[in-house]
Amino acid sequence: MSWRSPQDIISDLEQDRSLREPDRLRERSEVLDRLENWRLCGIPSHLEPTVEVGLRDRIEALCVELESIDGQLYQSIRLDIQHGGGARRLLEWAHAAGADHDEGDRSEGDSYDYLDALISGVLQIDEPAIPLAGLAAEMVFYQPTPARHIFDMVARTALDERDVLIDLGSGLGQVPMLAAICTGARCIGIEWEAAHVECARRCAHSLNLDRVTFVQGDVREADLSAGTVFYLYTPFEGTMLRDVLDMLRAEAATREIRICTLGPCTATIAQERWLRAVGSWEIHRPAVFRNA
Ligand SMILES: C[S@@+](CC[C@H](N)C(=O)[O-])C[C@H]1O[C@@H](n2cnc3c(N)ncnc32)[C@H](O)[C@@H]1O
Repeated sequence: MSWRSPQDIISDLEQDRSLREPDRLRERSEVLDRLENWRLCGIPSHLEPTVEVGLRDRIEALCVELESIDGQLYQSIRLDIQHGGGARRLLEWAHAAGADHDEGDRSEGDSYDYLDALISGVLQIDEPAIPLAGLAAEMVFYQPTPARHIFDMVARTALDERDVLIDLGSGLGQVPMLAAICTGARCIGIEWEAAHVECARRCAHSLNLDRVTFVQGDVREADLSAGTVFYLYTPFEGTMLRDVLDMLRAEAATREIRICTLGPCTATIAQERWLRAVGSWEIHRPAVFRNA
């Protein structure tokens, strides 16, 4: 492939109409990554200082324009969610991303991609306004499930209005919120950090999500009796995980439940004799288990 100067690349991007189409989010995200790199690390050529300043201004203007197109897209999906029509809009993106991932790119693991940018722009969860309390030993720090795995989990569990999903260690709450937007299920998040619970509640309220609730507290002391599907993105380990698995086993003795996991806790949970995996499992993708 022939080398193209940054000026040529910028001129092409300035004229590329398709990049301005709302659903070209993935392409815009790739372009914005490249421009951000030039913004931070400099433009890879030896330009006259005055030419370089002009080019920098054009890069800046392009970033502002492309980010504003993304912002309008996020806002229109937010409006649909607020009026109860978010499922169709979000699932369209989930299906498109699923097709991309089938082509063999980053479907596994905990990397983030343009779908996470979309979810972050749509949910607009605030930063915590109060200090974090801090975690006890064996509690795992907050890290959100990558959006593609949330959609995968929603598809694999086929949640419906008879289900109650409980996210054990829900952080800022995007799993219960997305599951409630995309399905008819009632969704509950249980989270130790009060600051995160406060942010999650504010966000759910701003989106009119009346099937989502957040409970602040230690999962080991929570009431799990309503749950039909439990989600764990490795929220704790060691004896804490053992204690919660014993609680789930007690729930499973009273009814059929499903447990969906992601990350290293999957390997521990797969050893439980009272559970059987639905299909094959691996730790880098959501796995589903049900009572044996
Ligand atoms: C890896 S994050 C997962 C966040 C969220 N489930 C998601 O997938 O986006 C683990 C979360 O579990 C919370 N946590 C850890 N131990 C907990 C416990 N015993 N009770 C409630 N929350 C806990 C942490 O504060 C953290 O927010």
